[in-house]
Amino acid sequence: MGVYRISVIHGDGIGPEVNQQAVRLLVAIGERFGHQFSFHEYLAGGAAIDATGNPLPDETIAGVKDSDALLFGAIGGPKWESMPHHLKPEAGLLRLRSELGAFANLRPAVVYDELVDASTLKPEVVRGTDIMVVRELTGGIYFGQPRGIEGEGSERRGFNTMVYSVAEIERIARVGFETAMKRDKRLCSVDKANVLDVSQLWREVVIGLSKEYPEVRLSHMYVDNAAMQLVRNPTQFDVIVTGNIFGDILSDAASMLTGSIGMLASASIGGPIGFFEPIHGSAPDITGKGIANPLAAIASAGMLLRYGLGLNEEADTVETAIRAVLGDGLRTADMAAPGQTALSTVAMGDAVLARLDGK
Ligand code: IPM
Ligand code: MG
Repeated sequence: MGVYRISVIHGDGIGPEVNQQAVRLLVAIGERFGHQFSFHEYLAGGAAIDATGNPLPDETIAGVKDSDALLFGAIGGPKWESMPHHLKPEAGLLRLRSELGAFANLRPAVVYDELVDASTLKPEVVRGTDIMVVRELTGGIYFGQPRGIEGEGSERRGFNTMVYSVAEIERIARVGFETAMKRDKRLCSVDKANVLDVSQLWREVVIGLSKEYPEVRLSHMYVDNAAMQLVRNPTQFDVIVTGNIFGDILSDAASMLTGSIGMLASASIGGPIGFFEPIHGSAPDITGKGIANPLAAIASAGMLLRYGLGLNEEADTVETAIRAVLGDGLRTADMAAPGQTALSTVAMGDAVLARLDGK
């Protein structure tokens, strides 16, 4: 029985719709397990730009830092796409990750047996897939300096810097090894060491650290090959550890193995406050229709319980409920087979809640 302060950022597009279902779930979990959750809403992304002109107001940073965990929806949309770079919704998200020191992004891609036919890949290829992508989140080319656009005419050039220090590599690699120790003890480090100096250092440091984890079977893969192997034979992977941009790309690819990006949750940890969000974006094309899949947001609430608050039994309950709705054949539009009835966002939220006690 605990008292927890949870900050909530609904964000833009389908963010509020799906996140509300995740909040309902946490309320229900609180009641069942006797925890006191209080929820505190803050603005970020496009909604914050509209209200304050700033994608990440100071009040949001202060409020989130004062909480035990952050439940995040999604941000961005066409309305803000033409804004200058530092004022885009995405800039707010990146700054928030960095402000919270959330350097390790855990993105599980699990193919539920019940959904094996929803993938665009053959069932025999994806069946049994259970991958954890550990993506570095606060460094690499996303944050490296110098960056910018300079010069004139055809000499005008744009540039970014991909940079990792030994300390940055070591701490994310450690999360990779520790994660592998709790799973099948296989870790694949993904880099581009045949071309990039930064990747050469990455590989060196990962190999150095592997001495501390003799039980973990470490392998290395170039990122282009990893993209191919993910769709060729995904069950060969257990834990993947990689840098920021490679992880961004590979986690989207991994998500489609599972049938829908609308299923995948993520946890960003490493700092004092964990940050939990679905990996899908704000999906402007389906915003306001009430058809978005809330399961990624609900699964993110599950990760919040596990990784943010250390409430494992509660998190197990959430995962069991998600499996139960899928087992019962319930689907939202993104994963429904042709001719199958698709549940609304709220109806799917109801269905998960109804199964919390079901086992
Ligand atoms: C993600 C997203 C973000 C990223 C965008 C919205 C900045 O694609 O969380 O994967 O690139 O990290
Ligand atoms: Mg992405």
